[in-house]
Amino acid sequence: MFRSLVTGCGAYLPSQVVTNADLSKRVDTDDAWIRQRTGICQRHIAAEGEMTSDLGLAAAKEALAQAGVAADAIDLIVCATSTPDETFPATATRIQYGLGMAGGAAFDVQAVCSGFVYGLSVADNFLRSGQASKALVIGAETFSRILDWEDRSTCVLFGDGAGAVVLEGIKQDGPANGKDRGILSTHLYSDGSHHDALYVDGGPSSTQSVGHLRMEGREVFRHAVVRMAEAVDAALEANGLTPGDVDWLVPHQANIRIIESMGKRLNLPSDRVVVTVDRHANTSAASIPLALNEAVGDGRIRSGDLLMMEAMGGGFTWGSALVRW
Ligand code: ACO
Repeated sequence: MFRSLVTGCGAYLPSQVVTNADLSKRVDTDDAWIRQRTGICQRHIAAEGEMTSDLGLAAAKEALAQAGVAADAIDLIVCATSTPDETFPATATRIQYGLGMAGGAAFDVQAVCSGFVYGLSVADNFLRSGQASKALVIGAETFSRILDWEDRSTCVLFGDGAGAVVLEGIKQDGPANGKDRGILSTHLYSDGSHHDALYVDGGPSSTQSVGHLRMEGREVFRHAVVRMAEAVDAALEANGLTPGDVDWLVPHQANIRIIESMGKRLNLPSDRVVVTVDRHANTSAASIPLALNEAVGDGRIRSGDLLMMEAMGGGFTWGSALVRW
C-alpha cells in the first residue's frame, strides 16, 4: 500500500495587479461593492503573450525545487485548467516540455474551480496503485482571457495564477489510520444538470470560438455552501475524524462569505482558515495550491497538521481532499 505525500509546493502570480479602483474605470462598479460582496480587493492579470503553461511551469519549477526532486524523476503531470493554451495538446505537455522532461505521462483535468481537488485525486490514485511514483499536480489558469470585460457581475470576480505540488508515493507499513501523513482521502462529485448556472458560451464543438464565462451568481452561491459542506462531511466520516481534528481549512477562494461559512461549519477560528481571495480573487483551479503555498511558505502549516481542502465549480463539480501535512 502506498500513500501520497506532498513533498513540495510552489506558486506563480503574474506581475500585473489590477485593483477594484482600476476596474471601476472600466465597468460600472466600485471598490465597496466588490469588497462587501466578495472580499476581493485586487487580482493578478497575465501579461499579453503570457500563457497558462508559462504560469504553470513557473509554479512547477518552484514545487520541484522545494521538494528537492529533479524533473526527470517525475513520471506523471496532471494539470488542472479550464483555460488551456490551446484546445489541444494538453497544457500539461507544454509544461512537461518546459521542464525538459522526455518521459512520463502528462495530461489535463478539466473540472473548473474543483480542478485541483480532481487533479490531486487522479494523481493520488496513480501513486496508490503504483502506476506512478512521483507526480506534479498543477492548477494553472488565465481566466482573464475568458471574461466578458463588459459584464460587471463576473469580470470583477476572477484573476490569473498557478500553484503546484509534488506528490511522492511512500510505502506505508500497517493499515491506514488518520494519523498517517499524506493524502488521507479525496471525494469527488458532479451534477451536469446545473450547466446553465456557470459555463462558457463557446468551444470548439459548439461555436468554434473560445467564448465568455456566464454565471448565475446567486444560484452558484446557494449550491456552493451546501455541496462543499457535504464533501467536507464525507471526508471526515471516511477517516473517522471530527471537525475538531482539522487544523487548517485551505478552501477554494471564490468569495469570503462562502469561505467563512465553511470555516464556521468546521468550528475553526478565522486564523485557521487560509484566505487569499482578497489579493488573488478567484483563480479557479489555481486557488487552492496558491493558498496552500502561501500558508506553508510563511510557516503557518506545519508537519503533522490536518488540512481540509474543498472546492466547487462549473458543471457543477465539487469535492474535498483531506491531507495530513
Ligand atoms: N458592481 C456593482 N454592482 C453590481 C456588480 C458589480 N460588480 N455586479 C452586480 N451588481 C449589481 C447587480 O446588478 C444587482 O443590481 P440590481 O439589484 O439593481 O439588479 C445587485 O448588484 C445585486 O446582484 P446579485 O447578483 O444579486 O448580488 P449577490 O449578492 O448575489 O452577489 C456575487 C453577487 C458576488 C457574484 C455572489 O452571488 C457570489 O459570490 N456568487 C458565487 C459565485 C462564484 O463565486 N462563482 C465563482 C465560480 S464557482 C465557485 O468558485 C464557487
